[in-house]
Amino acid sequence: MSTVIDGKALAARMRAEIKERVAAFKAERGREIGLAVVLVGEDSASQVYVRNKIKACEEVGIQSYSYHLPADATQNQVCELVDELAASENVHGILVQLPLPRHIDEREVLRRIPTKKDVDGFCAENVGNLAMNRETIAACTPFGVMKMLEAYGIDPKGKSAVVLGRSNIVGKPMAMLLLNADATVTVCHSKTKNLKEVCASADILVVAIGRARFVTEDMVKEGAVVIDVGMDRDENGRLCGDVDYDAVKEKASYITPVPGGVGPMTITMLLYNTVQTASRG
Ligand code: GUN
Repeated sequence: MSTVIDGKALAARMRAEIKERVAAFKAERGREIGLAVVLVGEDSASQVYVRNKIKACEEVGIQSYSYHLPADATQNQVCELVDELAASENVHGILVQLPLPRHIDEREVLRRIPTKKDVDGFCAENVGNLAMNRETIAACTPFGVMKMLEAYGIDPKGKSAVVLGRSNIVGKPMAMLLLNADATVTVCHSKTKNLKEVCASADILVVAIGRARFVTEDMVKEGAVVIDVGMDRDENGRLCGDVDYDAVKEKASYITPVPGGVGPMTITMLLYNTVQTASRG
C-alpha cells in the first residue's frame, strides 16, 4: 500500500507562497508581474490548459495577457506577436502553448522568445543550461515532479530512475533534472526493448507517454516511487493516467493520482517561473 503524493495540496501551499512573492514585488517595484499566454488554433486540450493557466495567474495576482490566434494564422503573424511581447516592458514571461498548428515552425517561434522571458524553459539556452546543470528555468511539468519528490523526502541520489517518454516538454528535461539530482537515469521510448524489465528495475518511475493505464502492476518494482504525468481518457471516457493506479498503488511506496497529482503542479511551476523571471529582470 502506497503513500499518495498529493499534488493538489502541495500546489496550494506553493501558490500561497507565490501570491506573497507577487504582492511583495508589486509593493517594492510599484508594478505588476505580467505573463503573456499565446494560443494558436482550436485544439480543445490546449484551450483548457490555457484557460486554467490564466485563472491560476488571477488567483496569485499575476497580470495575464491572453492572445488567441486562429488556426490559419501565418508564421509571420505568430512571430510578430512574439516579437511584440518580447519588447513589451509589461510582459515578464511569454508562454506559447504547444503544440502549434503543423504549418507553423515551432523552433522559429520559440527562438524569438528571449531567454529571460522563457517561463516554459523551452529555449535553447535554458535547455542547454539544464543539460550542463547550471542555473536555468526548467520546464514546468518535470520541475513540478522534482518539487513533489522533494516535498515527500524522496532523494533521487544514487537511485535508479526510469523515464518513460522522450518528449522535449517532459521526458528529456525530466531525465536531465533527475541526472542533475544524482540519479542513474534511463529514458525509454517506443523503440525500447524489454520495456517491462527496464521499468521494473526502477526505484523511481516517471511515466509520460499519453496512453491510458499503460503501466501495469507487473512493470513496477515493489516499493518503487511512481509518478504519473499522463492525462488520458479510458474506454468509458473517464479521466485517468498512464498508470493502472488501482493495481500499482498496492505495490508502489509512493504514487501520484490522476487527477490531483502532477497536473496542479505544472501550472504552479509556471507561476513560480514567471515570478523568477520577473524578479531577475
Ligand atoms: N503543451 C503541453 N504542456 C505544455 C507546457 O508545459 N507549456 C507549453 N507552452 N505548452 C505545453
